[in-house]
Amino acid sequence: MNAFSYRQGVLHAEGIPLSAIAEAVGTPVYVYSRAAIVERYRAFADALGPNALVCFAVKANSNLAVLQVLAVQGAGFDIVSGGELARVLRAGGDPGKVVFSGVGKSDAEIRAALEAGIFCFNVESEAELLRIDAIAGQLGKIAPIALRVNPDVDPKTHPYISTGLSENKFGIPIAVAADVYRRAARLPHIGIRGIACHIGSQLLDLSPIRDAAQRLLLLNQTLAGEGIEVQHLDLGGGVGIRYRDEVPPSPEDYAGMVHAALGDMPHARVFELGRALVGNAGLLLTRIEYLKQGEDRHFCVVDAAMNDLMRPTLYDAYHDILPLRQSDGEQRQYDVVGPICESGDFLAKGRRLPELAEGELLAVMSAGAYGFVMSSNYNTRPRVPEVMVDGEQFHVVRRRETLEDLFGPEEMLPR
Ligand code: LLP
Repeated sequence: MNAFSYRQGVLHAEGIPLSAIAEAVGTPVYVYSRAAIVERYRAFADALGPNALVCFAVKANSNLAVLQVLAVQGAGFDIVSGGELARVLRAGGDPGKVVFSGVGKSDAEIRAALEAGIFCFNVESEAELLRIDAIAGQLGKIAPIALRVNPDVDPKTHPYISTGLSENKFGIPIAVAADVYRRAARLPHIGIRGIACHIGSQLLDLSPIRDAAQRLLLLNQTLAGEGIEVQHLDLGGGVGIRYRDEVPPSPEDYAGMVHAALGDMPHARVFELGRALVGNAGLLLTRIEYLKQGEDRHFCVVDAAMNDLMRPTLYDAYHDILPLRQSDGEQRQYDVVGPICESGDFLAKGRRLPELAEGELLAVMSAGAYGFVMSSNYNTRPRVPEVMVDGEQFHVVRRRETLEDLFGPEEMLPR
């Protein structure tokens, strides 16, 4: 399905013209489609089958309503902080379906996860393993763990979002993983449950994930030969989406690769999908403030900026930009830029768009993942609201911040 489409020449989110949302809530605003999120989750969960636990990588979009929609579907969650755990619990997620990733878990976070009864810690170092064992001991619990191994495969994606190469800080090098498992097996408060990896994000080619899966299988064989049995294999996330003209793997392609790589092994399979579930289920709606003629280019200054959507600035990422009214009129090239005082503040460069007018609305597409969650208050810009469309209705699932929200935690010096 395409959650966002032109109907009679007007861009809609499901059954609602986006202009109605801008009217009611103002701009900029993030807009998500509930149906699109559910459809993507179901497509992956159904294709991967009953032996799979599809965890949503909360970092991609942690709005409580987004988590709630997925929790209702029975999704698990991949978290990287105590804050994300609290969000999952608040949204009604099942702690028994939570995996906890991340290289820097604190004592308090480990304790909270043990108390909540999560499914598994994905442990990223031996030091972390020892710390989890000690805290579990204090609480009289056995901590369920997988080691996140670094399989040293090249995911062929942007260097900032590739994680499975030996030069990256993530995971335990596969060459020493068996040794760490042996030591884990001797720790009194550790329960070995699985083997995990995650090699990078926005992957368009499945072969690196297949290679990683095969390396996990070899490790599993070594461990099984020594009586260390795991119950699940966690292949991480990273499935890419279409931003422009990429051809990402479909849920069926992905499931086919998994079945081919793991065969009929009885092990449960865990996945940590973020972008693939929500990336194309959201957009950022913005209004044109000014049109400005530079010496050799047209600038379109909009009310959204790099603090609202960092991806273009940070990764030179491409996000499609659609005018709310379809037009087959003449096109021009625009740099779509925000009001922030940095040259890096752009949403698109040299983009061909129909001739634009001040006050017009634009939709920045594919902004459902790593959009709002990476936003900041830079330039004292209150963070924008988030809206969830559900058929013919929409709900404000995060209100626009006020200046008082921003000033609240600050104090002036005594006079
Ligand atoms: N599991 C782990 C351990 C991760 O580190 C990540 C993402 C995921 C799962 C989910 O990956 P996904 O399925 O969403 O690709 N801010 C960047 C993306 C950073 C991804 C970090 N880790 C961006 O905007 O492209």
